[in-house]
Amino acid sequence: MRVGFIGTGSMGSILIEAFIQSGALAPQQIIASNRTVSKVERLAEQYPGVSVARSNIEVVLDSDIVFLCIKPVEFKKVIDEIRKIILPTQTVVSITSSVLIKHLENQMPCKIAKVIPSITNLVLSGATLCMYSERMQPEDIEELESLLTHISAPIRVEEEHTRICSDLSSCGPAFMAFVLQKFIDAAIEETGIPAEKATSLASEMLLGTGKLLTSGGLDPTIVQNRVSVPGGITAEGLRMMEGELIGVFNKLVHITHAKYEEDLEKVESLFTTKK
Ligand SMILES: NC(=O)c1ccc[n+]([C@@H]2O[C@H](COP(=O)([O-])OP(=O)(O)OC[C@H]3O[C@@H](n4cnc5c(N)ncnc54)[C@H](OP(=O)(O)O)[C@@H]3O)[C@@H](O)[C@H]2O)c1
Repeated sequence: MRVGFIGTGSMGSILIEAFIQSGALAPQQIIASNRTVSKVERLAEQYPGVSVARSNIEVVLDSDIVFLCIKPVEFKKVIDEIRKIILPTQTVVSITSSVLIKHLENQMPCKIAKVIPSITNLVLSGATLCMYSERMQPEDIEELESLLTHISAPIRVEEEHTRICSDLSSCGPAFMAFVLQKFIDAAIEETGIPAEKATSLASEMLLGTGKLLTSGGLDPTIVQNRVSVPGGITAEGLRMMEGELIGVFNKLVHITHAKYEEDLEKVESLFTTKK
């Protein structure tokens, strides 16, 4: 199997590295293109065997599965380039939440998947959200998910829930890192603990909590109950946070969804604008 990547920015390069490091793909199975070709050349230096394509068309001609790792605004341009040569037997995987499967199906004759990765895939962890067009047969889905399993837990979601699932899975690392940073900053400010020590303790804590919530079989409520005893220090902290954080996460969800609606409209207009 040959796997192509159009766009090797942040997410494209994370996926390539994760697939190689996990053993899902040998570098020789990968071909990639990027608007600024030096980015692919750097990846090929790091992982000898990765083919540097000089055009997006070259990627499509040489791949069974093509990942589109570009921003929404670039989709129309890239699709206009590749749609004349892409075959119904090939699979295009978009990693962009605001580009709908129907947009891609209307433009190209191939099989379409939408897979939303997460920065956590770089350490072969976290989820990938999976959505499929009806053109994807069970064996196509199995082939793609068996790749994704090497770097993540592939989780099938409804396309109408893309935004909230991406908030939890892909934006989540940034949101949780923000909360952690605030906790660390307060620890330093209030007690003078060295930043390095506070950061390493907080990071180990987050890793351990993640393990409790996944392989440990606990849910978030149980973790809270197991750590806090009535009237104890943790219980006091939780009581304060309950009051202070009222509505914060609802506001967060409203904001991400409002921005998503904007992005959807922009993409819709790109795909409906006459050439
Ligand atoms: N970042 C995340 O955690 C995350 C998670 C899930 C999904 N996503 C989605 O992934 C997509 C890409 O995000 P990103 O963070 O990887 O963006 P990025 O770092 O800006 O990467 C986009 C890449 O696409 C390249 N590109 C642009 N136009 C091109 C063209 N016509 N042909 C070939 N390559 C082209 C750019 O090349 P240049 O080097 O010339 O700029 C750039 O390297 C976005 O839609 C985002 O929503 C991101």
